[in-house]
Amino acid sequence: MRVLVVGNGGREHALVWKLSQSSSNHHVFAANGNAGTRLLAENLPVLPTDIEGIVAAATTIRSDLVVVGPEVPLAMGLVDSLLAAGIPAFGPSRAAAQLESSKAFAHAIMRKYGIPAAESREFTSFAQAQAYVATLHPPLVVKADGLAAGKGAIIAQSLEEAETALSDMLERRVFGDAGDRVVIEEFLQGKEVSLLAFTDGIRVAPMVPACDYKRALDNDAGLNTGGMGCYSPPGFFGQDLIQRATDTVIKPIVHAMKEEGREYRGVIYAGLMIRDDSIRVLEFNARFGDPETQVVLPRLESDLAETLLSCVQGRLDPTTVKWKDQSCVGVVLASGGYPGPYKKGLPISGLDAVDKDVAVFHAGTTLGSDGTTTITNGGRVLAVVGTGDTISSARQRAYDNVARVSFEGMMYRKDIALREVE
Ligand code: AMP
Ligand code: GLY
Repeated sequence: MRVLVVGNGGREHALVWKLSQSSSNHHVFAANGNAGTRLLAENLPVLPTDIEGIVAAATTIRSDLVVVGPEVPLAMGLVDSLLAAGIPAFGPSRAAAQLESSKAFAHAIMRKYGIPAAESREFTSFAQAQAYVATLHPPLVVKADGLAAGKGAIIAQSLEEAETALSDMLERRVFGDAGDRVVIEEFLQGKEVSLLAFTDGIRVAPMVPACDYKRALDNDAGLNTGGMGCYSPPGFFGQDLIQRATDTVIKPIVHAMKEEGREYRGVIYAGLMIRDDSIRVLEFNARFGDPETQVVLPRLESDLAETLLSCVQGRLDPTTVKWKDQSCVGVVLASGGYPGPYKKGLPISGLDAVDKDVAVFHAGTTLGSDGTTTITNGGRVLAVVGTGDTISSARQRAYDNVARVSFEGMMYRKDIALREVE
């Protein structure tokens, strides 16, 4: 198959990596890719949000399958445009991707179909939101309705913080249109887990679960980021809970979307809060997670392209999706200053010193002007992923290899998966 992966982050490098390992010898392309995808695929110089450009590129290369990584092109309707041009495309339609692109929509559908979530109310008026907040007891959560690159959820520890967040979104419009509507949510306590599943609109095949570390610094200090590391499997989320989450969240939401005339095909990603026996939804995403994908796909035993294509064609057979009984730990190496301002263009050394059985997924990287040096090109630069029989050995493999890679200002968390080995 000729497969085009749309995106340029660590998630897309992991997709390209998995696709190019297939015994079926797929020809893999990336648009626009990074210095890592370039080693395994042909990078095409088309940005993921250039909808017409992606459709034209997919047509030119006679793509048998396009896999869309990021949420923005999904919300823009890239899959609709590809399908209209007769190109098989993996990912939800624009109408289905609203599950991620509007938190108010997601809450409304969860309420209607009895899917467990935080209590919530939505507002477009600052005065009304402010009056409602004054009746609550913090902490509480204020979220921009639309896409905000992972920065749109504010955990307010006081009523003042909640008001500031509301004013930022509804009055100062710091998130633009995305913050013209806000959702105010009850604060949930517990442990967070990401459960992703493949779906063809009817059937679902859950992936192995993973835990993402969203804060920039050790012990969950610092600002929220796109994700500083990840591991799979989480010890606290075993087979029983996976089954319950599949039955009470994943299957019902896929069914609900079909009932609503927005059939959902692609990856459904549930961000869940687990407390004792209770499972509640924090958010839905309409795509593979980043960095979840980097620790989940190495554990996939069956053929990825075949599963993706079966979802697109409405013939997913969940029994054919097989996972390895292994552990994976991924540590993100980020630019100094991230998630605030950071430098770009710094040379990365030590990539060739990494063990062959340790995967280094590139995110913000590109090739320097000399055509050989890999240089930094983003906030999250690389993810070093160790695999082992236990979380402890996978973690050791990852950190041993992290120590061999460096660039000026490099930062990373030292506590990824630590809670599983303590
Ligand atoms: P979201 O953008 O909805 O994924 O939220 C980003 C992060 O904020 C989540 O991964 C959680 O860590 C936290 N969060 C979101 N909603 C809640 C909630 N209702 N209660 C507690 N934490 C939350
Ligand atoms: N890891 C969080 C996300 O992909 O949204």
